[in-house]
Amino acid sequence: MERDYEILADAAEAIARAAGARLLEFFRREHLQVETKLNESDIVTEADRASEETILRLVSERFPTHSVLSEESGESVRDGEFRWVIDPLDGTTNFRCGLPFFSVSIGIEHFGEAVAGVVYAPQLGEMFRGVRGGGATLNGKPMACSSIPSLDRSVLATGFPVDKSVNPDNNLDNVGRLLPRIRGLRRLGSAAIDICYTAAGFLEGYWEMNLHDWDITAGMVIAREAGCLTGEFRSDRNRSVVVAPPQLFDEIRRELSSRPGSADIKKTTF
Ligand code: IPD
Ligand code: CA
Ligand code: CA
Repeated sequence: MERDYEILADAAEAIARAAGARLLEFFRREHLQVETKLNESDIVTEADRASEETILRLVSERFPTHSVLSEESGESVRDGEFRWVIDPLDGTTNFRCGLPFFSVSIGIEHFGEAVAGVVYAPQLGEMFRGVRGGGATLNGKPMACSSIPSLDRSVLATGFPVDKSVNPDNNLDNVGRLLPRIRGLRRLGSAAIDICYTAAGFLEGYWEMNLHDWDITAGMVIAREAGCLTGEFRSDRNRSVVVAPPQLFDEIRRELSSRPGSADIKKTTF
């Protein structure tokens, strides 16, 4: 089965490269078409849609029976065995600003379990890949999470929920507790890249609340295959995840507030 997952990951890689090339046609171009979704902090551009169109076309040409969940066009259920979980442009705000931290994220689930993922950052030329049981790579080279032993030498990343202007439950409480204890904090603006940079050992950890499956499915396979622990720190705000090397995971996790309804906190290991 592992071999089949590698074949699917090869296909996902090729599709992510095609989508990334499409994104670069729009990057830093004048007059990019931008629309708002929930509010002014939640945007979608013509580049998101072009990338998604490329991915969905290629997936349905090559795997016509596979189901798909993709951020801008939702779910299309075909069979119950494989599902592709797609963010055609993760980091749209960066993309809109002309900042290079954006990616295409493609995860593949088999009977509901994430088994392969690729995250491609085309402007950075970085292709992250993970296959369950097969390890994680950056541009074809094996990678592993950080071995830094303590929080005071750690650089972490996070992000903030899209309803931050109206909802005071906005992650600043977690920042307030962790910031004084760490070397540095980054807000890179692409959840998929944050997770992969933790997997690669460039960061010592990442947490964020209120994400969606398309932000994290690919990254979580990659992170686990690179030796990270992954978990969810609350269950009342969509997907709220923490990713870190084993020696730092519990300490970071302890500082993250769990709200009511978070009793089913999970720590996932293989
Ligand atoms: C967003 C990015 C960002 C995270 C947001 C996500 P999008 O995805 O991953 O880093 O903080 O929560 O929604 O909208 O650019 O695909
Ligand atoms: Ca996203
Ligand atoms: Ca997106």
